[in-house]
Amino acid sequence: MEHIVVLTGAGMSAESGLRTFRDADGLWEGHDVMSVASPEGWHRDRDLVLQFYNERRRQLLSVQPNNGHLSLVKLEQHYKVSIITQNVDDLHERAGSNTVVHLHGELTKVRSTADPTYVVEWREDLNRGNLCPKGHQLRPHIVWFGEAVPMMEQAAIITSEADLVLIIGTSLQVYPAAGLLAYAPTQTPVIYIDPNPATNYELEHRTDLKILEGTAANVLPQVVRELLNK
Ligand code: OAD
Repeated sequence: MEHIVVLTGAGMSAESGLRTFRDADGLWEGHDVMSVASPEGWHRDRDLVLQFYNERRRQLLSVQPNNGHLSLVKLEQHYKVSIITQNVDDLHERAGSNTVVHLHGELTKVRSTADPTYVVEWREDLNRGNLCPKGHQLRPHIVWFGEAVPMMEQAAIITSEADLVLIIGTSLQVYPAAGLLAYAPTQTPVIYIDPNPATNYELEHRTDLKILEGTAANVLPQVVRELLNK
């Protein structure tokens, strides 16, 4: 069975109603990204960071997967599909995709500030005073700027086994995620779907690249139909 590896970014969930990062002057929902998504921000103002992710979590629970997420599930009828997402939402899972690797963490989980292996599901607000069993403050299970990306190795192995790579809705600016393509075999075809496609070193060096200017909910279902009819 052919293996399709799908790398998704914020644009994947834009039509579900979640805003992207860089389409809005580096502001994310009105915030300076570094003040809410870095260890420095957490040390400076925990309440701001907790409130920010509480809002994001509540918003996430109020939106639904779009046609793009749903079409990726259909691909599983004929292909082995591995989704590697930079998104912290759970819309791929809610759509029904079976293999989803979260490079940048998950909004619906929290972890101990003292023990990174203590990770639990969390769908309510997270507040100061919510502690792990050993008595340490819980924090969002999100990879912040400046932190390691623990899932990167697994994502690289998956990408190295790709027969086709689909890239959807990402500006390919944030490394190491943006460099994943380098692990795909040189001859592996790549299809990049984005209304405002970016470029980077890895993309420029592909030998078989097709760029489709369009949105996840519009163009991706067409691409999936073609792949299923092949
Ligand atoms: P960006 O905001 O950098 O890029 C979003 C991309 O989505 C852009 O290329 C847009 O053109 C595209 N886009 C917008 N609407 C779309 C639609 N309807 N369909 C398809 N594409 C659309 O987001 P990412 O590349 O995901 O990291 O950003 C990468 C990382 O930077 C994020 O995971 C986050 C951020 O800092 C962390 O939180 C650690």
